[in-house]
Amino acid sequence: MRVIAVFNHKGGVGKTTSVANLGAALAQKGKKVLLVDIDPQACLTVHFGIDPEIADDTIYQVLCKDRPLAGAVQWLEREKLHLAPSHLDLAGAELELATAMGRERIVRDAIDGYLRDHRDLDYVFFDCPPSLGLLTINALTAAEEVFVPLQTEFLALRGLGKLVELIAMVRRRLNPNLAITGILPTLSRTGTLLAREVQAEITKHFGSTVFQTRIRNNVRLAEAPGHGRSILTYAPRSKGAEDYLALADEVEAMQGCHRVLPAPEPEISVQDILAQVESPRIDPPLPESRSPESPLPESPLPESPLPESPSPESPLPEGAPLPSGSNGVEQPPPA
Ligand SMILES: Nc1ncnc2c1ncn2[C@@H]1O[C@H](COP(=O)(O)OP(=O)(O)OP(=O)(O)O)[C@@H](O)[C@H]1O
Ligand SMILES: [Mg+2]
Repeated sequence: MRVIAVFNHKGGVGKTTSVANLGAALAQKGKKVLLVDIDPQACLTVHFGIDPEIADDTIYQVLCKDRPLAGAVQWLEREKLHLAPSHLDLAGAELELATAMGRERIVRDAIDGYLRDHRDLDYVFFDCPPSLGLLTINALTAAEEVFVPLQTEFLALRGLGKLVELIAMVRRRLNPNLAITGILPTLSRTGTLLAREVQAEITKHFGSTVFQTRIRNNVRLAEAPGHGRSILTYAPRSKGAEDYLALADEVEAMQGCHRVLPAPEPEISVQDILAQVESPRIDPPLPESRSPESPLPESPLPESPLPESPSPESPLPEGAPLPSGSNGVEQPPPA
């Protein structure tokens, strides 16, 4: 199970288009996919034909009203996708949560709660807003991976330093498992000298993190949201569909960072707990009265304490060394 935030603070680079169509392409390949729209512009929600003003159980209620994520998730039958829609009220969430304790972790906790009952999910994708605020930080804290769509145009790399810095800060303070695992060239005008030059520049900076697949400029991709559909159900034979299916294959083939699923909720009721607390405690017999027929097994306690291993839940203290692995990330075994 992989949790991936699709983020670039630059606007209009193809974040929403990529979340919608990569998600739909993976779903078409039989994967179980949840898309989360955490952008107050709610473009992903609109992309699938849902009105973000009338949806009454959304990611806003999860963030600001302490509601479970399961209540917000909708099943999109045509696309075979799950979607947690956004709401325009999300624009005020930052202010509403200004004094809330642990406000950067609300979405991570909500996702963990959802995963306890949906352990067969393969992918969660966040469509992030084009900003560096609390909503983006919530998505980056909830994810293990970041995909960065990058338009292959002049100045494409400008401002990327800021993005890399933000991700490093989230890693240090909130989520030591986070890594950029995919740079996605989008809106590519293949064949032009400029596209080739920008491509070479991106590869020089990010090496093998750059996807082999490039998402070409294709008007069908821009038309699909107007019909409330992904490119796969709107124009399945278009270049756009071809590119996102190729990207889905590449995403499937890469190792990625797999989430260690949270332990299931213990199946114990409040009554059970109270009954245990109230029932008289039965102490084991003292050694003197122990019968020779049934000696206690001789199993001395270990003399040395167990090795300490940092919990993945607790953030690393500032300045602590980053975990090992590619991109400095501890790679848990595939789920
Ligand atoms: N490969 C493509 N070919 C043609 N049009 C595209 C392509 N990718 C995206 N678009 C169009 O470009 C515009 C911006 O794309 P998109 O909304 O996905 O960007 P974004 O990064 O999510 O923007 P924002 O930062 O505002 O959230 C949209 O109108 C979309 O339909
Ligand atoms: Mg968007």
